[in-house]
Amino acid sequence: MKPNIRTPERPMLVTCGLPYVNGECHIGHLRTYVPADVYVRVLRKLGHDVTFICGSDTHGTPIVLSAEARGVSPKRLVEEYHKHFKEIFEQLDISFDHYGSTDAETNHKRTQEIVKALIKNGYVYPRSIKLAFCSRCDRFLPDRYVEGVCPYCGAAARGDECDQGCGRHLEPGEIKEPVCKVCGSKAEFREQEHFFFKLSAFKDFLMGFLETLDGTDNARNYAREWVRRELRDWCITRNLDWGVKFPGRDDLVVYVWVDAPIGYISFTEELSAMRNLDWRAFWKGDGAIIHFIGADIIYHHCIFWPAMLKGAGYSTPDAVVASGMVTINGKPLSKTRGNVVWTKEFLEKFDADTLRYYLVAYTSHTKELDFSWRVFQERVNNELAAILGNLIHRVISFAYRNFGAVPDGEISEDVFTAIKNTKEAILEALEEYEFKKLVDSAMNLAGLGNTIFQQSEPWHLVKSGDEDVRKGKSVVRSVLQIIKATAIFLEPVMPSKMEKVWEFLGMEGDVHAAPLDEALVEIKIGQKLKKPKILFPKVGDDVVATLESKLPR
Ligand code: MSP
Ligand code: ZN
Repeated sequence: MKPNIRTPERPMLVTCGLPYVNGECHIGHLRTYVPADVYVRVLRKLGHDVTFICGSDTHGTPIVLSAEARGVSPKRLVEEYHKHFKEIFEQLDISFDHYGSTDAETNHKRTQEIVKALIKNGYVYPRSIKLAFCSRCDRFLPDRYVEGVCPYCGAAARGDECDQGCGRHLEPGEIKEPVCKVCGSKAEFREQEHFFFKLSAFKDFLMGFLETLDGTDNARNYAREWVRRELRDWCITRNLDWGVKFPGRDDLVVYVWVDAPIGYISFTEELSAMRNLDWRAFWKGDGAIIHFIGADIIYHHCIFWPAMLKGAGYSTPDAVVASGMVTINGKPLSKTRGNVVWTKEFLEKFDADTLRYYLVAYTSHTKELDFSWRVFQERVNNELAAILGNLIHRVISFAYRNFGAVPDGEISEDVFTAIKNTKEAILEALEEYEFKKLVDSAMNLAGLGNTIFQQSEPWHLVKSGDEDVRKGKSVVRSVLQIIKATAIFLEPVMPSKMEKVWEFLGMEGDVHAAPLDEALVEIKIGQKLKKPKILFPKVGDDVVATLESKLPR
């Protein structure tokens, strides 16, 4: 059900797709985390009771294979990258209330409880299937342990997905001509009993669920199409040691896509134990659940996950917000081809807030975001430096020099109207999950500030007679009001830069805690200003050329 963002009613739980902790954070990941953080920060400014959670996805074959390749245990590997992601999120000011791990005891317990409930309710059944087995390594080859040929399109494929051809998800045993990824030998097929989740039983439920699901259209539309076509039962067990044990079977773990989303529940439980919060308000009650993800995992969040929740007697999500994918210079992000921009390296050169701005302002949330250093440079120089930075620096410097404090002018009615309109646009942006609209409307307000200041020429006015001085003071105070409002409206996007603006304005209190409506509260006459510093230095051509040359052509 669509959350009512205008009036706080239900408590809200916002989650982000959990990163696989088998490698470093790249800018593609951030399209899930940054817009979600913007959303959460605005909700808090509207007085909502919001809980924001995420955590590391620690299981599955990508993790085990990366650990083997590095010669460390999966546990060591996930601990290392868990720490890495946590640090990156802190540097980016992503305001999670809790960042957990799917390998925590709470998640093992909750996953087993849910699987048992599914078994009891008749949604899990055993079936013998033929699986790829390597006689040389003497083991079954789950998911990415095997490579071969896609049974649907004939392209080279991995055990769990046809990643180079039709893109289909492959079920265990489906791949043709299997070869062991570890030793390279031809694999054979051996029969073994596995457990299946009866997804096919949820067709009617899912159709109804998707009718009322809020979020972005891409999520609903893809999901409806899949439900209409065919729902196949999912094999939910794997031959691995690393993972959550399938109840009663020590030789099998559950498929990573079972215990990963259950992390959303167990992290809420963990937070419940730390503060005054009841996880049941969301997962057994009617608190709003809003998932932020990338378009690559819509199937899992709009079909598999709600069916699992329903089957086990839990509440289902209210909204799924799916971003378009991030590409780099027109090509898919690829670690193996070196077409990747690592977040850590980005943050060594530029402020987190410029990256946050770029990711949100670039395009509509559901569209593809094609990263390039040139466009990043243009956005920083032409928008952050030329419009916002210029407004803040020029106006506060002028006011500081001439008055030292907010002058006793009258704020024009037009300014309040513009601020009201901006606030309305921000509310609409939130309802539509269009974060670009939010940034654009706040930037338009900043642009209006520049126009008013430029056209009224207060530098002449303050040097003339009394009447003109009075006018000049009004212009300055009006534009300072615009800056104050802009700082509040843009805090969700650029929290640390707006904290500085708040300081320059001599505001009391915390811009992070300032409610959206404070944008309409008159800036106090006589409030001491500070001499501003440059907030958005321009990005030089040479820097961009060097960075660009590191990416493949
Ligand atoms: N572990 C799973 C999610 C489990 S959720 C119960 C996963 N991990 S991931 O590391 O591959 O991605 C983490 C998040 O980043 C996901 O929301 C994913 O959609 C998003 N993105 C990862 N690469 C991306 C792009 N290149 N572009 C946009 N979003 C991307 O998926
Ligand atoms: Zn082998």
